[in-house]
Amino acid sequence: MNDRLRSDSAAALADMASRGTLKVPPILDAPQGPSSRLGDGREVLVACSNDYLGLAADPRVVAASARGLQEFGAGTASVRFICGTFTPHLELERDLASLVGTEASLTFVSCWDANAAAITTLADENTVVLSDALNHASIIDAVRLSRAGKKVVYPHVDLAALDEALSGMGEWARRIVVTDGVFSMEGDVAPLPDLVELCRRHDAVLIVDDSHGVGVMGADGRGTPSAQGVLGEIDVLTGTLGKALGGAAGGYVAGPSEVVELLTQVARPSLFSNALPVPTACGAREAVRILRTERERVTRLHSLAAALRDGLRDAGLDPLPGATAIVPIIVGETARAGRMSRELREEHGVLVTGFGYPVVPEGTARLRIQANAAMTDDNVAALVKAIAAVAS
Ligand SMILES: Cc1ncc(COP(=O)(O)O)c(C=O)c1O
Repeated sequence: MNDRLRSDSAAALADMASRGTLKVPPILDAPQGPSSRLGDGREVLVACSNDYLGLAADPRVVAASARGLQEFGAGTASVRFICGTFTPHLELERDLASLVGTEASLTFVSCWDANAAAITTLADENTVVLSDALNHASIIDAVRLSRAGKKVVYPHVDLAALDEALSGMGEWARRIVVTDGVFSMEGDVAPLPDLVELCRRHDAVLIVDDSHGVGVMGADGRGTPSAQGVLGEIDVLTGTLGKALGGAAGGYVAGPSEVVELLTQVARPSLFSNALPVPTACGAREAVRILRTERERVTRLHSLAAALRDGLRDAGLDPLPGATAIVPIIVGETARAGRMSRELREEHGVLVTGFGYPVVPEGTARLRIQANAAMTDDNVAALVKAIAAVAS
């Protein structure tokens, strides 16, 4: 045992504790949903989950996963190209591609892996990658991991800066612009029609991670491209199955069939890591089916998110504006966000996460409230009341 390792780790933890940044996750002892139960038996209202459509514990999703488990077993015990490809993978990939408006898709055990696969495969020494400053950590790390010859971070959704940067990059064999569709900490969206135009003008490839957009954005829930009228016009989309699409786990890359086939052949997270468990693929496929046939869930989610924003404003709070299901309120210091989140849990039975540095820039710590289509109007009223109480 390396004693120094232990004491260094203890010191890092003590430092976090003294700064009030130590995370203490709630332990759920009941299914995910707007209402759940903590390990100590207390009922809680969950407003920090990415289960936007309320499908994580939907009996049909659970039954589809259980059928997958019975028919195909617990795991793939293999990577895709050895013997880890099962018919439900292909069925899910066809349905995902159809949902997000691309020719093909390939699944992974997470969107973290999907981003790593897409970016490291498509960016080589002759590529320049331009990444939005507020992109998700999985994109940031994928860009770091890639062998791209040049890596540029452009200011958040700053089209003029991006245009200028691209103007000087004509000598690169490939230019890639990568952005979140919905930004997870701000709840704002990338201006996709402008980005499509810009990328076409500069002969650049546009990659959009729509993890918080798929199932949420657009009247049809087909994601941020659909909401902004550019469905089918994004070169490469990535997304997660761990949020609106059943909430279990998994991710995908969707795009032209040749790009997806290239990833199937060479992307390292696919070649060297097990395939998505088949029960998870079956559950996600059922979630996609429900999304496509029960559009009222998406409508309900949109009206709940709007009611939440309105309610918070009426209570004198200042949520960031937007049309997504992510409703942040900036509270300043990290310790304050932690304190408010703790009080919400302990005194009001409400789960809302506080995010602070280094997840968001210093001084912009926030409460991130997330809407769920299965919430009732009373849930929204209770949520607003509790947040107003801890903010005063
Ligand atoms: C924008 C974005 N991309 C990727 C991921 C990673 O998704 P997964 O949990 O499937 O790895 C997340 C999850 O938080 C996310 O918000």
